[in-house]
Parts: sequence; C-alpha cells; structure tokens
Amino acid sequence: MILEKIEALKGQIKDLHASNEEALEALRIKYLSKKGEITALFNEFKTVAPEQKRELGQKLNELKNLATEKIAQIKESVQTQAKEQNKIDITRPSFPAELGTRHPISVVRKQIIDIFSRVGFTLADGPEVEDDWHVFSALNFAADHPARDMQDTFFIEQNKDDVTRNIVLRSHTSSVQVRTMERKQPPIRIICPGRVYRNEAITARAHCFFHQIEGLYIDKNVSFADLKQVLLYFAKELFGPDTKIRLRPSYFPFTEPSAEMDVSCMLCGGEGCGFCKHTGWVEILGCGMVDPNVLEASGIDSTVYSGYAFGLGIERITNLKYMVKDLRMFSENDVRFLNEFRSAH
Ligand code: DAH
Repeated sequence: MILEKIEALKGQIKDLHASNEEALEALRIKYLSKKGEITALFNEFKTVAPEQKRELGQKLNELKNLATEKIAQIKESVQTQAKEQNKIDITRPSFPAELGTRHPISVVRKQIIDIFSRVGFTLADGPEVEDDWHVFSALNFAADHPARDMQDTFFIEQNKDDVTRNIVLRSHTSSVQVRTMERKQPPIRIICPGRVYRNEAITARAHCFFHQIEGLYIDKNVSFADLKQVLLYFAKELFGPDTKIRLRPSYFPFTEPSAEMDVSCMLCGGEGCGFCKHTGWVEILGCGMVDPNVLEASGIDSTVYSGYAFGLGIERITNLKYMVKDLRMFSENDVRFLNEFRSAH
C-alpha cells in the first residue's frame, strides 16, 4: 500500500516543473512541508510492520531526496531564467527613432520669412481673435463692405440687436499692420505670418482657415518703385532667378493704388501651358501703397510718411511650389503626404 504510494509520487516528482517562484513554492508545500504528501508518508511509515521497515524506510528516504533535489533543480532554473530576463544588453543598437518632418506650410513660411529677413524685414504678430477695428475699420473698409457680412467672416460676439458685430476671427493678417502702426512710429519694416479664417465651405480649392504673410514698410519717401523692386527680388529668390513679375491694377480698401502680382509660370517659364491656363502667368499676391486713411487711423502722419503693403497666401505659394492639388491635404495630417516633404526645408 505505502509502497504503491511511494512509486506514484516518484513518478509525479520526476515530471515536476515550475515557471516562477510562486509555482515553485506551491510544489514545495505540496510535497515537502509539514502537511506535505511525503511528510504524510513518513507518518504512515510508523504503522508498518517491523519486517518491512528496512526496505520501505530506504525507499521513503530515496523519495524524499528525489523531491528535495528536484525542487532545488527547479529553483535554480527559475532563478537563472529571472536573471536572463533582467539582463540589459547595453551594446545592443537602439531602435531607430522615427523623426517627424516639417509641415509643408511651415517649410514655405520659413522660406518666405528668410527671404524678407535678408532685406531688413522683422517679424510681427497679432491675435487671431480680433476686433472689428483692427480687421476692418482701421483698414478703411466701408461700413457696408461685403467682408463684414456673416457669410464671409466668422463673428464671435454680436450685440443683441445684431447691429454692432465686434469680435471676429481675423479674415486676413492685415490687422497686424494696424496693431504695429498703433504701437510704433516709422520706420516700420515688418512681415506678419499667421492663420486667418473665412466662412467658406471646405473644398479642394477653399478652406475655412488658411495662412497668410503680410508685409508692411512705412518710412519717409517710400515709393511704388520700392515695392516693385522688393517684390521682384522676392519672386526671384522664391521661384528662381529667371522669374519675371507683372503687376496688374486692382482694388483693396487699404491701399491706393493697389495691384495684384503675377509671376511667370513656374512650369512653362511663361510660354503658356495647362497650369497657367495658357497665359504664361500665375497670380501670387496683392499689394499697394498704404492708403493715407490707414496711416492716419493708426496715428501716423500721412503728410510725412508713406509706405507699401502686400499680402500673400502661404497655401497658394506652397501649391505653386509643390503642385499640391487639394487644399484639404494641408490639414488632414496624412503622414504619407507629410513624408513627401521630408527633404524640403
Ligand atoms: N488682405 C488681403 C487679403 O486677405 C491681401 C492683401 C492685399 C494684403 C493687398 C495687403 C495688400 O497688405 O496691400 O486678400
């Protein structure tokens, strides 16, 4: 009877294994503790007939030794396994860190800022949430100008009878002109990059927000010729030395005279192609001589000072440089798109 039990336990013990300290301890308790199965056999042993004691005692001791050794063996392997797991190989090369890329709008904004910095323009900025004065009134917008319509501009605050609409999301960076002129007397030579908002349905060709860069130069004796020269320099720096410019008369409330500037088509060099609709030219910005009303509204004496201003859309320039067809790509953050600008800087 007891012999069978010894044999059965022997069989069990040979196959024991444990993968961690807790499992190992459970085995020890099961077989070797005071209440363990082998200890129980020793108790039973006391009751066997004297003539069997010798043989059974030997077998029982063998069983106990076997269990003790097996458990010691398992303990060793559990410990070496734990050590292996904690081992840090300091010579192993690190996982390659995935580097981000600059957003194409940031790339082009930086290019434009760099170009104007080289001829003395410094950076200025202003708030995106603006008041009517800085976005419209001080810039000589008539009270009934369509840009003041809810359909074009996002209004944040309106009074109850819906007559005075005061706080808006700026619809252009020209507001920073006013902020700068209010703060400081000429000479002023600034560019103001920033985000602007318009109440447009989002399509491939329009978005409810985009980015502009505004330029402003105010000093004594600033002329239209100065404007033209700076814009020619800008176009050549941005699109290459063979680039030509063309100014067409236009209208903005805050400049007089006003113009729109085209550059020779960067695809066909001015020959005419599908991209420039066979005109050889593509429009890139608006500009003009700052209207005396605008100078006066910001406390600058228009009999002493004159100046020019220009404004351009960064998305538009980016489209022209990198042929991006859909404006929505700029704000969707699709990494496949963003990765295409990995080498641009
Ligand atoms: N603010 C104009 C717009 O958003 C762009 C612009 C045109 C800015 C002519 C200027 C300028 O400073 O002189 O369309």
